[in-house]
Amino acid sequence: MSEPFPNLEDLDRAHLLHPITEFRVHEKKGPRVLVGGEGIRLRTRDGRSVIDGFSGLFNINVGHGRREIADAVAAQMRELAYYPSFWDFSTQPAIALADRLAQRFPPAAELGHMIFTSGGSDANETAFRFARLYQAVMGRPSRTKILSRKHGFHGITRASGSATRIGVYHVFAQPDPLHVDAAAPYCFRCDLGKTYPSCGVACADDVEAVIAREGEDTVAAVIVEPVLGTGGIVPPPAEYFAKLQAICARHDVLLLLDEVITGFGRTGRWFGMEHWDVRPDLVTFAKGVTSGYLPLGGVAMSQRVYEAIRDRSPQGLPFMGGLTYNNHPTCCAAALANLDILEREGLVENARVTGAYLLACLREAFSDHAFVGDLRGLGMLAAIETTQPHSKDPVGGKPMQFPARVAQAAWERGLIVRALWENVALAPPLVATRADVDEIVDILAKSFAEASKQFAAA
Ligand SMILES: Cc1ncc(COP(=O)(O)O)c(C=O)c1O
Repeated sequence: MSEPFPNLEDLDRAHLLHPITEFRVHEKKGPRVLVGGEGIRLRTRDGRSVIDGFSGLFNINVGHGRREIADAVAAQMRELAYYPSFWDFSTQPAIALADRLAQRFPPAAELGHMIFTSGGSDANETAFRFARLYQAVMGRPSRTKILSRKHGFHGITRASGSATRIGVYHVFAQPDPLHVDAAAPYCFRCDLGKTYPSCGVACADDVEAVIAREGEDTVAAVIVEPVLGTGGIVPPPAEYFAKLQAICARHDVLLLLDEVITGFGRTGRWFGMEHWDVRPDLVTFAKGVTSGYLPLGGVAMSQRVYEAIRDRSPQGLPFMGGLTYNNHPTCCAAALANLDILEREGLVENARVTGAYLLACLREAFSDHAFVGDLRGLGMLAAIETTQPHSKDPVGGKPMQFPARVAQAAWERGLIVRALWENVALAPPLVATRADVDEIVDILAKSFAEASKQFAAA
């Protein structure tokens, strides 16, 4: 068969813009074109098989090549590909998905109401609207600020991007002034210069200090990830969420949990909140809800917030938060098929058990390495934080060089891992087996050794 695009790499260089990519570097290097995938493995255009050790962007939970999702999508498209859900229009897959998720969230959290978006950023934008609306109908319209945490990542559109508190995302425009931040529970790089456990989890108290500083009557919600994701894959200390929950309740500031990465089994539970029995007011999700087969995100709302908005909104004032693709029926059909797979194959449990094995293997292979400062994980999420020996400076003195070198060496050996600041980060699909983990850790160990040799010699 003749190749329809013999010069695909050149066309990419010429026309396609890639996120998080330096244009001049991309023009020189060109793309890595992928043509297929099955389970945890991807096929490249030049015929290689590589392990997807990061599930794309933490999202391909059920792995690649799932025909039943493709079939569900095709069937829905043949019936009714799309219709808006504005006003009272509705579709069967959106209703079925809302009902299914209402059953999936922990019953005590009473998260029975939801709206679907196209991804995580617009889910968070929508949640901020709900938080402000809630405060307004409660008679506190001055509560408009959103408090997030340093190292937090909540997307890159304007409001969710302002809640993201990672400096490089704000190089050309400062975050919106309605967004403020507090310390994160990132013990290895404590924003407050303290040490756990003698700190008494002061980072949670810092949230209360920021609420006091800004004025309680100005803060609508606190948004947090159950496990810091893009900030470096950092699970919090065990006591953190109980403290945070109490602070939010004391000030009637809504607790908004961003489960975009941690939802749908990634941490070994259906939702990250289940590890610490968190009772959020609003939850956002995306990524694993469809395993990336189609774009979908969403906001789940607690009964308390729902009833306040339902009963106290002024007559004739609807919720003015509509996106064209809210509750998209075909994307919801993909999510339903994805949930079927997660449930039928016990993938949440596999993430818990095989994820624990992954962390144990990483500890065994890397804990004593001179360039390893910290090693963390939960479920199918893990990070090896690299540092100069006896310091917290980047290996080789230049930020992000060493993890990038490890990632490159791993790619050459057939494994995708992510260089995340000073971390080498892993988030394999939830279908990964112990044998897959052994292979991943073996490739990573060789890649780490190769990069270490180069950096030690430099
Ligand atoms: C925790 C978290 N929230 C929100 C987002 C934004 O999601 P999206 O890229 O789908 O807009 C991300 C993306 O990585 C994320 O990790």
